[in-house]
Amino acid sequence: MCGIVGYAGPRRQTPSVRPVEVVLAGLSRLEYRGYDSAGVAVLEDGHVRIDKRAGKLANLREALAGRESSDSQVAIGHTRWATHGAPTDANAHPHRGGRHGELALVHNGIIENFAPLRDELVADGFTFVSETDSEVAAHLVAREMERPEIGGDLTEAMRQVVARLEGAFTLLAIHEAAPDRVVAARRNSPLVVGLGDGENFLGSDVAAFIDSTKEALEVGQDQIVTVTAEDVSVIGFDGTPVTDSKRYTIEWDATAAQKGGYPSFMAKEIHEQAAAVADTLRGRIENGHLHLDEMKIDESVLRSIDKIVVVACGTAANAGSVVKYAIEHWCRIPVEVELAHEFRYRDPVVNEKTLVVAISQSGETMDTLMAVRHAQEQGAKVIAICNTRGSTIAREADAALYLHVGPEIAVASTKAYLGQIAACYLLGLYLAQVRGNLYPDEIQAIMGDLEELPGKVQEVLDASGQVEELAREMADATSVLFLGRHVGYPTAMEGALKLKEIAYIHAEGFAAGELKHGPIALVEPGQPVFVIVPSPRGRDSLHSKVVSNIQEIRARGARTLVIAEEGDTAVEPYADVVIRVPSTRTLFAPLLTVIPLQIFACELATAKGLDVDQPRNLAKSVTVE
Ligand code: AGP
Repeated sequence: MCGIVGYAGPRRQTPSVRPVEVVLAGLSRLEYRGYDSAGVAVLEDGHVRIDKRAGKLANLREALAGRESSDSQVAIGHTRWATHGAPTDANAHPHRGGRHGELALVHNGIIENFAPLRDELVADGFTFVSETDSEVAAHLVAREMERPEIGGDLTEAMRQVVARLEGAFTLLAIHEAAPDRVVAARRNSPLVVGLGDGENFLGSDVAAFIDSTKEALEVGQDQIVTVTAEDVSVIGFDGTPVTDSKRYTIEWDATAAQKGGYPSFMAKEIHEQAAAVADTLRGRIENGHLHLDEMKIDESVLRSIDKIVVVACGTAANAGSVVKYAIEHWCRIPVEVELAHEFRYRDPVVNEKTLVVAISQSGETMDTLMAVRHAQEQGAKVIAICNTRGSTIAREADAALYLHVGPEIAVASTKAYLGQIAACYLLGLYLAQVRGNLYPDEIQAIMGDLEELPGKVQEVLDASGQVEELAREMADATSVLFLGRHVGYPTAMEGALKLKEIAYIHAEGFAAGELKHGPIALVEPGQPVFVIVPSPRGRDSLHSKVVSNIQEIRARGARTLVIAEEGDTAVEPYADVVIRVPSTRTLFAPLLTVIPLQIFACELATAKGLDVDQPRNLAKSVTVE
């Protein structure tokens, strides 16, 4: 969703390094979050200048082309994902605030009480030019700056305003009376500070400034940050100075946010998955021993839990559904997997004996964050499985297990999905170790197999040509079905989600056993159906039942695209296409069987000429409920 960039510094006023260019570069690195308009604001000859355009950043760059360099030390920028009001130039951010337009402000989130505030401002003589909730905040801060008691202190003006706002927001403001600073505030919406040498940055995430600095500062909930070229100061919404903000060094470099020769970020991220799984496991398994240093929850608490609830959305929820099988099998403890947005509103039975596992790549998904808070209010401990360091969910959880898979830029999640599953396997084994459900030698044997997975992932990736060709051949498909049983079921769901998201093709994932209870009615001659077949070395009944399902749909004319373990000859008579994956434990197979489905969606969307990385209507990080 919306991307925010702020800059305060002394950069030379030449076109390539002026503050507005710094902010534009940051915005382009945040494009992956999803947006439909973009804008920047600077101070020029002491006055606020705003440029904004509906559509892609290229439209804004075109509008700015040939502009004289401004003398601004500060700049703010925004990519907007429309909520209140259509994606038009007028609704794009920054918004001007004040009776003379002396302030510029950008906003991520939703100000729920904007309507009465707007009425109040209109009655006070302020005029509105957009349909957004955000313009209210711009005028409110500007009006505070008019008050003599505020003394032209933009930080204090912001503090007075946030006390009146309800909802979620990251706000950044610049004002003509405070030309050396950007003031930002955050509640329930992401914001991070980049610490430079004689310059400082603000961003929705570290991608905003990664090519300028790797030093970052976390901003806590309900805090206000003031950045100038030389200084960063943080206060709480109550005015108390904050002195313990966590500083950290960003682990990845700017090349991680570049395509590196691949046609899309998604293709690149799919092909990074062997390294992604290895990176998630790295440092946590040593000489057959499991170390989870991040596990800040007392072992006595972990021994006392009688239920695990996984809360997540989209692909992260599919990862949760995969690992449910492993954790239940290893730990003999019930695991419920629930979409975070459903969990919170159904009065779930959660207490201090419940362990909640919140899975979120971004760590900023509002639905998941709200589920976490609800669970904690009921006394549950929460473990976050996140990729983004310092993200809200990771910080608010009682413990956080990071994926370490590097930035995921494509909206459609791939490498984070594998990382989430691998991290949850580690969590499951750790719980089994602490609770004594498995003997140490059993855990060692499982971990040994886990460590072989990066190599097996690479084998699947090396064989991607067959699936790519299939995808190109099927570029005109209008409907594709996916079937799986056991851990193959969430894999089928994930395969269908990928295809819907980026190729805009009707796709459904079903539990293969459910077929006869309805979905088989969809099967007509030529209907393509992917079937994820479990290992024949696992429970025989599982394998033979899925083979029967393939026969059932084939008998009705379906085109069967079968993903099966190498050496599984039983599927061959009924498969139109067989896609092979290396053999592994049944519980680990989802890390391999999903890869052909990711490649299929990516290649098919590419063949259709679609924007693979930024599919329509979708945002990378869904920061509103
Ligand atoms: C994945 O392809 C999707 N874009 C989406 O379902 C995503 O997984 C979901 O929004 C959750 O995001 P999170 O992991 O950042 O919380």
